[in-house]
Amino acid sequence: MARDPRYDILFEPVRIGPKTARNRFYQVPHCNGMGYRDPAALAAMRGIKAEGGWAVVCTEEVEIHHTSEITPFIELRLWDDRDIPVMERMTGAIQAHGALAGIELCYNGLSGSNLHSREIPMGPQALPISTFMPDPVQGRRMDLEDIRNLRRWHSSAVRRAVRAGFDIVYVYAAHGLGLPQQFLSRRLNDRGDAYGGSLENRARLLRELIEDTKEAVGDDCAVAVRIAADELCGEAGLHKEEVHEVIAMMAELPDLWDLALSDWDNDSVTSRFGGEGEQEPFVAGVKALTTRPVVGVGRFTSPDTMVSMIRRGVLDMIGAARPSIADPFLPRKIEEGRLEDIRECIGCNICVAGDFTMSPIRCTQNPTMGEEWRRGWHPEILRARESEARVLVVGAGPAGLECAQALGKRGYEVALAEAGMEAGGRVTRESRLPGLAAWARVRDYRLQQLHGLANVELYFDSALGAGDILDFGFDHVAVATGCHWRRDGVARHHRTPIPVADGTAVLTPDDLMAGGRPAGKTVLVYDDDHYYMGGVLAELLADEGFAVTLATPAAEVSAWTRTTMEQHRIQARLIEKGVTIRPHTAVTALGPEGVRTACVFTGREGAIGCDAVLLVTARLPEEGLVEDLKAREEDWADAGIASVRAIGDAFAPGTIAAAVYSGRKYAETLDGPPDTGDTVPFRRELTALEDPVRGLTVDPACTPVRGSGRHPDSSGRRDRASPSRGGTGRARRAR
Ligand SMILES: Cc1cc2nc3c(=O)[nH]c(=O)nc-3n(C[C@H](O)[C@H](O)[C@H](O)COP(=O)(O)O)c2cc1C
Ligand code: SF4
Repeated sequence: MARDPRYDILFEPVRIGPKTARNRFYQVPHCNGMGYRDPAALAAMRGIKAEGGWAVVCTEEVEIHHTSEITPFIELRLWDDRDIPVMERMTGAIQAHGALAGIELCYNGLSGSNLHSREIPMGPQALPISTFMPDPVQGRRMDLEDIRNLRRWHSSAVRRAVRAGFDIVYVYAAHGLGLPQQFLSRRLNDRGDAYGGSLENRARLLRELIEDTKEAVGDDCAVAVRIAADELCGEAGLHKEEVHEVIAMMAELPDLWDLALSDWDNDSVTSRFGGEGEQEPFVAGVKALTTRPVVGVGRFTSPDTMVSMIRRGVLDMIGAARPSIADPFLPRKIEEGRLEDIRECIGCNICVAGDFTMSPIRCTQNPTMGEEWRRGWHPEILRARESEARVLVVGAGPAGLECAQALGKRGYEVALAEAGMEAGGRVTRESRLPGLAAWARVRDYRLQQLHGLANVELYFDSALGAGDILDFGFDHVAVATGCHWRRDGVARHHRTPIPVADGTAVLTPDDLMAGGRPAGKTVLVYDDDHYYMGGVLAELLADEGFAVTLATPAAEVSAWTRTTMEQHRIQARLIEKGVTIRPHTAVTALGPEGVRTACVFTGREGAIGCDAVLLVTARLPEEGLVEDLKAREEDWADAGIASVRAIGDAFAPGTIAAAVYSGRKYAETLDGPPDTGDTVPFRRELTALEDPVRGLTVDPACTPVRGSGRHPDSSGRRDRASPSRGGTGRARRAR
């Protein structure tokens, strides 16, 4: 299909110093929980973005020096020359598809505790390190020699980046993570020397680093600056007016300005708390200050919004992290006039949680994210079916929809049977809760894909029993019937049911999502789930006028949402809405007049009066159908059934991302060798051990990818990191 001319402007080339970006789509730096641990996987992931049409594909923040690292977080490292091969692999994967490769060099200063190197961190002044954890580490104040050293180290890293083949090298002054921002911000810089005081002085280090970088890159590499558009703490910190002044001071110095907002949690705000294009008020006006291209972000998934950003002169290039994770092929889909195929980011920040849990990146919408190399999955290309088998998928929730559409794209004949009258299962139900409307995109994308697949039939109002399924005679049955919330209080704190007295009004999230409400006015929400549901339902009930108390054994509301960077917003919202919060509190018994409680530390007992209790605890899989079918396993052969498997929440309740992934995994591996657990079913990157005398003593081979016909290195290139190169007598990374 041809591109809609309305979007032509998005495909104009943009000059970035000595380089030319083929269009205006710019994948801004984003980390991924893979970093130095999984470099081949990381390179393959970036390569897929380039293949998907992004004109610029950047790394995450890359540590440039061992005196500034952010262990336990796993980023790329460019500490010395031995890190160059890893970088080359990435530039190769990106450039093989015609994109420019950008690298964000980072010195974390007062935001890196150096838990690995044990070096003392340093910054503009001596302050405790402020990171995502309160590590008991304090940084020291840099003197002028430290600043000179830092500049030299930065230039060395720049030269290594150029040797690795990068087209764009960043000076990073954003998210509170880049040292130049720490010098810029008056809340972190109390210096009385040439690097403190006036804005010009505070901006001196940034200017010097840009100048150094320009000199070190030579003529064939561009220099970009990523700068915090505002620290969102008013006059106490770096604010928009100052940032615009800084940009005006150095307007033409770098080849590109890339703006991000405040700390990471503000920049990557979830859809529950911020919409598309949120950052416009901070970025508007920057283009008037410079002739250099300006990049900005804002979870852009609508091509019309993107066009508007360009036409109204807000941005030159559309920066995207999460939209490029959810759909690495977003630019190509716009270019090919396939807007309906765009897999729009839902703003859940599960991708961010990968980083916070030090696990490879994952995405709710894109189950192939992070699996490009290790499982050989591609977001758009599925290998053709290997048999004529017919597959029945029972349940059209996130797992069933993903499974059916992926199997359909592989060419299998699929029937998707949904008991109800609407598709989407939990995402449809949850998308009606406050702030979660974007969850419906998980359903909408997949339904859209199913429309285009003549080999997949979707049946509503089709509750199936084991007998029905045996009558149908499908070869494979995937059961995606979801789960339900427990009504007995069992979860993390209580492993056995909580006693409930007769006459107690007990509700679960399922009751509320089905429209049920407590009879009285006061409700206790007991959250031992710790993800979003407890907080969302407390908000819903408060909005509807109930007097709500939220009790949780955790220290804070929706504790796991720290990993999605929204916990503080959730707690603030509940406080604002008048919800009483009782942390460190276990509910030990339920009665008609209220609950008994125990302090999780002392066991000291208490009571909270309420008319009803909402238990947000564990969930149970809907496994009746699988059990019924397994009970009749001797009938399968006659019915032509080769396999019956539960997927998604019906197998084990988890996140929506886990359900979608489970559906995809079923479809990808249906005709592969059975996973008996005797071999690792995905490739791993292992550390090669070197012997100082005899050279390499252990050279771990990659585990082959199962159930996939594709070459797992999506770049199509061979690994350039030779196992025989490298250091002397030290452990180092190899594939
Ligand atoms: C998983 C993830 C990791 C990120 N890591 C970085 C990083 O290493 N460096 C950086 O400058 N920004 C990082 N960001 C911020 C993004 O570059 C971007 O500014 C922000 O997510 C807003 O853009 P978006 O709405 O398109 O996601 C990260 C964002 C995400 C979602
Ligand atoms: S995990 Fe969620 S926020 Fe992150 S890219 Fe995917 S859909 Fe968007």
